[in-house]
Amino acid sequence: GSGLNEVARRSGRIFGASVRMDQVSAEPGLANAVASQCGMLTPEIHLKWNSIEYRKGQVWYQPVDALVKHARQNGQTVYGHTLIWEQGTPDWALHHLHHKKDWDFVAAHFERLLKRYHADIPVWDVVNEPIDTQNGSKGLRRNTFQRVFGSGYIEQALHTARHFAPDAKLMLNDYSFEYDNHVEADRRATFLKLLERLKAKGVPLDGVGIQAHLDLGKGPLRHQIIGPFLQAIADMGLEIYITELDVKERDYRATAAIRDQRVADEVARYLDIALDQRAVKGVTTWGLSDKHSWLKVERGDRVDRRRYGNPAPNRGLPYDVSMKP
Ligand code: XIL
Repeated sequence: GSGLNEVARRSGRIFGASVRMDQVSAEPGLANAVASQCGMLTPEIHLKWNSIEYRKGQVWYQPVDALVKHARQNGQTVYGHTLIWEQGTPDWALHHLHHKKDWDFVAAHFERLLKRYHADIPVWDVVNEPIDTQNGSKGLRRNTFQRVFGSGYIEQALHTARHFAPDAKLMLNDYSFEYDNHVEADRRATFLKLLERLKAKGVPLDGVGIQAHLDLGKGPLRHQIIGPFLQAIADMGLEIYITELDVKERDYRATAAIRDQRVADEVARYLDIALDQRAVKGVTTWGLSDKHSWLKVERGDRVDRRRYGNPAPNRGLPYDVSMKP
C-alpha cells in the first residue's frame, strides 16, 4: 500500500485520524480515505462523557461500538479519547461532582468504558488538557475536577484507570507546545514538571499526547525548541503520540494551491522535528477532511462568503472539502 499508515510503518510508527461515525457512514469517499490511510482511529467525540451520557441515565455506546467494529474490520486500532475533559463533561455530571464531591462517580464512569472497551482500545487519554499556565492553579487548569478533588485528581485518575485497565497505555494529552513564545515556553516547562512529579511518585503513566494544532500565525517551528521538549519526555521513559495534528491558516484570499503548500510545508517542518524522536510512536490528524474540521472561521477573519460559503473552510487537513488530497 501507499497510504499514510504504510509510510508511518516504515519507521515503526502508526498513522491515524479522528473520525465521527455519522460522517464515515454517510460519506463513502471519507470511508475509503479512512480505510486506505489510517492504521488507527480516534473517536472525535463519541467517547466523551457528554456523548456517552448526555442525559443522566441515558447511556449511548452505539457510535463507539460502531467505530470499534469498523476499526476491527479494517485492521485498525483505536485510541481512546478521553476519560476526563471538563469541556466534554455534561452539565448534570459537573453539577453532581460539585455538590457531592464523589470520586466513586468518576470511577464508575471509568469502569464502564474501560471494561467495555479494554479489548479494543489499548491506549487512553485519561486526562485531557490538564494544564493552564495563564489562569491555572500552580500550572494546573482550574476545572471542576481540580476544584473538587484538589490537584491530586490527575494521579487519582491515573490510579483509577490502571485499576480498571491493567494493560492499557495511560496518557495525558495537552496542547500548545510547539512555538517559540513565552506562553508556550511556560506550558512546556509546566507540563514537564507535572510529568516529573507523577513519575517520581510512581503514578501509572505510560505516555503523553501532544495535540499539535499548528498555526501559521505563530511563527517558525524550531528544532531547538521542540526537540529538547520531546527528549525530556522520552528521558522519563514515556511514549509520545502526536494526537490532533492540523494547521490553522486563515489567508482565505490566497489560492488553494498556495494555502495547501503552506500547510504542507508547516506539517513537514513539524514532522521532520517530531519524528527525529524515537519515542514518538504515532501521528494522528484531527479529522481527515477539511469538510469536518473543527477549525472554523473566526471573528475578524475576512472571508469571501460567496466563494467559500459560511463558514469558509480551513485547509489544514490531508483532504479538502471535496476529498481532494
Ligand atoms: C473537539 C471536536 O473536534 C469537536 O467536534 C467537539 O465539538 C469539541 O471537541 N482538543 C481536544 C479535542 O482534545 O477533544 C477537541 O475536539 C479539539 C481540541
